[in-house]
Amino acid sequence: MALTSPSPVDEWAALNGLIEQQERLLVERVPTSAALREQARDVLPGGVASNWQDAPPIAVWLSHGHGAYVVDVDGTEYVDLHAGFGAMLCGHGHPAIVDAVSNQVRRGTHFAQPTAGLIDVASALRSRFGLPKWRFCNSGTEATMEAIHLMRAVTGRSRIIKVEGSYHGHHDHTQVSVYPEAGHIGPPWRPLTVREHGGIPLEVARLVSVVPFGDLDAVERLLLEYPGEIAGMIIEPIMMNIGIIEAPAGYLAGLRALLHRHGAYLAFDEVKTGLSVAPGGATELYGITPDLVCLAKAMGGGLPCGAIGGVDELFDRIADGTYEQVGTYNGNPLTLAASRAMLFDVLTPDAYRHFDRLRSIMVDGARSVLERYGLPGYVQAHGAKGCIVFHDEPLWNYRDFLAYDGRFGHGNWLFQHNGGVFLPPWGKMEQWTLSVQHCDDDVLRFVRNFERFASTLQHHATAS
Ligand SMILES: Cc1ncc(COP(=O)(O)O)c(C=O)c1O
Repeated sequence: MALTSPSPVDEWAALNGLIEQQERLLVERVPTSAALREQARDVLPGGVASNWQDAPPIAVWLSHGHGAYVVDVDGTEYVDLHAGFGAMLCGHGHPAIVDAVSNQVRRGTHFAQPTAGLIDVASALRSRFGLPKWRFCNSGTEATMEAIHLMRAVTGRSRIIKVEGSYHGHHDHTQVSVYPEAGHIGPPWRPLTVREHGGIPLEVARLVSVVPFGDLDAVERLLLEYPGEIAGMIIEPIMMNIGIIEAPAGYLAGLRALLHRHGAYLAFDEVKTGLSVAPGGATELYGITPDLVCLAKAMGGGLPCGAIGGVDELFDRIADGTYEQVGTYNGNPLTLAASRAMLFDVLTPDAYRHFDRLRSIMVDGARSVLERYGLPGYVQAHGAKGCIVFHDEPLWNYRDFLAYDGRFGHGNWLFQHNGGVFLPPWGKMEQWTLSVQHCDDDVLRFVRNFERFASTLQHHATAS
């Protein structure tokens, strides 16, 4: 219950004021980033390497990282819960990664021929995810692209199903209905396929059918409407690009059964969840093994990476050349060295116990603040990942996500940043990522910043 009860109008006015003040403070704190941005704009569109790095009010340029921390170009140190958009479960400069990568650098960084690390890494992924065969690529985008190509090549069908509001990378088949705007999305039971930008041909977009998360009937309707045309479905088993949304009980198992009944496959995009929510990702967490699993991010210890695991029925078609899974840098020895260190030396059973402990400090602390200050919201977390969803009602799908206001999330992000905690930008969409190098003090800083946000907001709302 709230200690005091400002009217909602006062609260929104106070929140707007605080956001303005904190954005100003942030910009004033990072003059070197501002100068570099101006310089960079001359040679880089928007002054960044990826559009999502240019978050409001300004992209903060980093100088280096060490352990659980990153340091910006003005010398400010932050607890790093951004983790390079969820990749750095090892933290920065982890000795196992440094040793593995340094040794490999001396022995050669690239051959485009098989090396022994392939077998170690593929075998470790097999035992974590329960899928017999693995191949490597270089990003999450490549992994999901491979999954879709493979499902199409093996079934001889072109149509795929994806979930509204899910991001699977930036290739043609998945850049539809990622963050579509409310006016263009059609009825909830039958979402329209909306291209993210004009670079995706309409002809390709038309081959992607979109469903609401958690709705088995919507998938069944499509399978009946397009008999013999659907190759498979790609899905994040826990949605992690609209906060965190868990699948309803029975949904994932139901999907697998339904798709198989219609001769189609199920691919889990575990680019964010894999290795982070449990040693064997959501596949292990829920005990549902799909036909394909896509991995990237945490696997590579900070090096560009990607992997795809699958059942023999699909991967035998790679072996016989039905689908040619190729790439100059596939199985790159440097990436394999870092991945091997991640799988064998960093992400040990102790590491997951460490995540559990730190996560419970964050979850309990954030829940207590929400309750004591009467803020709308709840906490959702698994393994190394978590977030505060600033909404009264549980979110079930993209439409729920779209309907609530992102200002609380942005306000919290600003207070965290100005208080020395680097969360990923785009507060409403993203989540924190823990590393094995974080300690209790680091995560308590997050809880203290959140309390400062809540108390300042309350103070301003009641004073106005
Ligand atoms: C669920 C999911 N799939 C795929 C991708 C694409 O991965 P990458 O950026 O490595 O291409 C991302 C990236 O954030 C993601 O969150």
